[in-house]
Amino acid sequence: MAIRITWLGHSAFALDIDGHPILIDPFVTGNPLAPFPVADLKAEFILVSHGHGDHVGDAVELANRTGAATISNVEISAWLRNKGVETAHGQNSGGSCDYGGFMRVKLTQAFHSSSLPDGSYGGMPNGFVISAAGQHLYFAGDTALFSDMSLIGDEGIDVAFLPIGDYFTMGVADSLRAINFIRPRFVLPMHYNTIPQIAADVSMWGNRVSSETGAQPIVLDPGGSYTLHT
Ligand code: NI
Ligand code: MN
Repeated sequence: MAIRITWLGHSAFALDIDGHPILIDPFVTGNPLAPFPVADLKAEFILVSHGHGDHVGDAVELANRTGAATISNVEISAWLRNKGVETAHGQNSGGSCDYGGFMRVKLTQAFHSSSLPDGSYGGMPNGFVISAAGQHLYFAGDTALFSDMSLIGDEGIDVAFLPIGDYFTMGVADSLRAINFIRPRFVLPMHYNTIPQIAADVSMWGNRVSSETGAQPIVLDPGGSYTLHT
């Protein structure tokens, strides 16, 4: 069993879970770091953490083209259904569900805001704990630091995906504190270097992760992949 993680720039990731393609926050159109055109992306499930345009991204087009089901909170799922997405699962914070016989997704809290691109109410912002192929992945979404990340860490997180870009989310210093709450084996940075306000020195971040936490940093270039063998 294996999970291949590919960074699409910003907070967009493609996961391949034992051959099942999953997209998270698929912001490609308008993303200056996007390594592939939208047309090249495949998905069985598309996870959307909150309503902002840099996270909903191309979810509607992708779901309509690929037939992928979306997974988000209930307000965003209703909005996606109105845009023609046929299967839009609407969970809420703290709830989990099995999908496709190979993955369980739990919505976690995130400290941020959430309105959809047309101004509609997006509900509460979320992160995800994705359990699949014997691994637990925690995608924090856009969030500030919060100490209850330690409760998420108690679940035994293998890989954490954390924003480091500051300005809209936690920055480098708070991401290091988050890692010490979460205690993952591996950590990937996200939500940085897309626009000048969220520029971050990712090699400095990686060095500090290695020296100040117990996690191994995984820094990918856009389009780059890391495979987690289980
Ligand atoms: Ni946001
Ligand atoms: Mn964002």
